[in-house]
Amino acid sequence: MASTATLPSKMKAWTYGEYGKSSDVLKLDTDVAVPQINDDQVLVKVAAAGINPIDFKRMAGMFKATDSPLPIIPGYDVAGVVVKVGSRVKKFKEGDEVYGDINEKALDHPTQFGTIAEYTVAAEKLLALKPKNLSFIQSAGLPLAMETAYEGLERCHFSAGNSILVLGGVGTMIIQVHFL
Ligand SMILES: NC(=O)c1ccc[n+]([C@@H]2O[C@H](COP(=O)([O-])OP(=O)(O)OC[C@H]3O[C@@H](n4cnc5c(N)ncnc54)[C@H](OP(=O)(O)O)[C@@H]3O)[C@@H](O)[C@H]2O)c1
Repeated sequence: MASTATLPSKMKAWTYGEYGKSSDVLKLDTDVAVPQINDDQVLVKVAAAGINPIDFKRMAGMFKATDSPLPIIPGYDVAGVVVKVGSRVKKFKEGDEVYGDINEKALDHPTQFGTIAEYTVAAEKLLALKPKNLSFIQSAGLPLAMETAYEGLERCHFSAGNSILVLGGVGTMIIQVHFL
């Protein structure tokens, strides 16, 4: 595990510098600066990252009016190990295994420094300790889809006596949230 003293200044990351189809614009960049953290953030060594429909829609420029500046490292979901903590971080320490969706608001200036990279930055409040019974890959597949499922149930005011039609995809999460 990397400690603060041994953190590199550069990393590999998938990036795009213009909007378009991933096959046209997405590039593996081997010389990206490792992002700096604020006081309330942690630096995570990425073990696994999730890809969601929002990533390709964002890459296509569908949200460009509220996006962060290009170039962008895509990716919302992450599971990995904390390697550096900001001075106001209370919940985590170096070495903690964490997971989460690093964007508090999906469409309102999502971070320029996403999770499809060797390192990513997230606010402490957006992460949780990774469940011990889930792998990094399993954990990285959960956050945004689970948030969507939860929000879907809230938006349709689902309660006893109501019926909803649940489709596949993120709908499989709805079934799991409902039975929690
Ligand atoms: N995944 C996320 O975390 C997330 C987050 C926010 C918003 N969203 C949005 O939610 C939507 C669905 O995302 P997803 O990840 O669940 O996609 P998905 O994995 O492709 O699942 C879509 C599901 O809808 C079914 N379906 C599609 N067209 C249908 C139709 N005409 N009639 C009945 N069923 C139909 C599909 O059935 P088949 O499998 O039989 O084709 C599939 O089970 C997208 O618009 C996405 O942008 C997703």
